[in-house]
Amino acid sequence: MNLDIVILAAGKGTRMGSPLPKVLANLAGRPMLDHVLESVSQLKKIKLHVVVGHEAQMVRKTFSDNKKINWIKQTKQLGTGHAVKQALKHIRSNSNVVILYGDVPLISENTISKLTKLASKGPALLTFNKDNPTGYGRIIRSSRNKIEAIIEEKDASPSEKQITEVNSGIMAFKAKELSRLIGKIKKNNKAREFYLTDTVREAYLEKLNIQSLRLSDMDEVLGCNTPEDLQLLEKAYHLSTAKKFLNKGVSFADIEKVKFRGSVSIEKGAFIDENVIFEGSVSIEANAKIGPGCIISNSTIGKNAELLPYTFVEESKLENNTKAGPFAHVGIQTKLEAGAEIGNFVETKRSNIGANSKAKHLAYIGDGRIGKGVNIGAGTIFCNYDGVKKHITKIEDDAFIGSNSALVAPLTIGRKSYVGSGSVVTKNVGKGQLAIGRGRQKNMLNRKK
Ligand code: UD1
Ligand code: CA
Repeated sequence: MNLDIVILAAGKGTRMGSPLPKVLANLAGRPMLDHVLESVSQLKKIKLHVVVGHEAQMVRKTFSDNKKINWIKQTKQLGTGHAVKQALKHIRSNSNVVILYGDVPLISENTISKLTKLASKGPALLTFNKDNPTGYGRIIRSSRNKIEAIIEEKDASPSEKQITEVNSGIMAFKAKELSRLIGKIKKNNKAREFYLTDTVREAYLEKLNIQSLRLSDMDEVLGCNTPEDLQLLEKAYHLSTAKKFLNKGVSFADIEKVKFRGSVSIEKGAFIDENVIFEGSVSIEANAKIGPGCIISNSTIGKNAELLPYTFVEESKLENNTKAGPFAHVGIQTKLEAGAEIGNFVETKRSNIGANSKAKHLAYIGDGRIGKGVNIGAGTIFCNYDGVKKHITKIEDDAFIGSNSALVAPLTIGRKSYVGSGSVVTKNVGKGQLAIGRGRQKNMLNRKK
């Protein structure tokens, strides 16, 4: 069965009190609408429509990479029913149609599929129970438990306001049914808007067989109207993401203390300690250990690799069995090859650190090309910048750099060579040589006797 998906995203989100259109509000490091788009990305035989209005250009630009979206403009925001009406002529007549809300971002693909299957029997609603239902449309059921209507908060009587079964906003219809029902709704309500929810009353009057799916997991259908709602969603998102990994064999010190701000994959056997933040596209491979307070941004952490506490990794790749930290900054475009280690207060940038090479304490490694089995002593600085340009320092396999050396690039230090500690190295060092570039120590007569 074909599926047309209509995402409503034209509203301003006045209650958010922000200049950004609501669907672009930041939820776990991504625009809210991006979460909805992700939920539908794996569905088959779909046509995807997004209705935009308020700041339409800004919204479209944010998702300009997504070529699957058919953008539909709703020039005036006259209500959710009016928004859906704008999409009707783009919808395939033999389709099922599911309507999603840009401000109900955590809906899962599984729930969407279940609801659309129900739509073959009649208009299908996704509902849930909320102890404090304020702000949501209430589900009105007959004494025989049949759904008769949805009443919006503004229009509800005191007794209707007591109802705790609420409308998630998400509905599914057969295309022909939807266009007929939408044609019937009017704006005779307090808000003077065309409510999509009024299609339910019309369906009831037509004696259609209204279907409903009541969710037990409320987080999936939390809506976002206020900054406080956004906080609830943010918490719900991180927790449900952590639970997903937990159930696939990842361990956590505390699933409530990890943030997933991007698209993250974590393999079985990995361990994530407290207060870890993932950002952008991150991949944590099997059995890696991530210490407390680490931030990992757009990077890969290989199998059995270990990040010790408070390490920041950005745009880098740590291969299998590597180690970084505590308090290390693995800066952009660093590659640690298998078994390499960087330690306390070491910063790297645009550098390749070969297999089993080590820089365990207090070093800056910028634009380095480091071979295998190299030892970089405490306090070594790669002087890669001459004030105008960045230059490369190449250190070949098994070289040893003594502590507190300054390596002035461009520079090559040959295989198995040795740099005496405290050297300022400005000339290339050949294979196997010992280089010492420092003032000689003189021991003189001590006049202070
Ligand atoms: C809506 C539902 C309510 C439900 C709740 C769930 C209606 C009338 N009410 O209320 O029953 O419980 O969602 O979260 O549908 N939008 C447009 N064009 C418009 C108006 C809205 O595209 O003209 C979009 C908004 O951008 C938003 C979504 O539709 O993404 C919902 O609009 P909103 O005003 O937030 O509706 P609620 O009052 O939350
Ligand atoms: Ca809403």
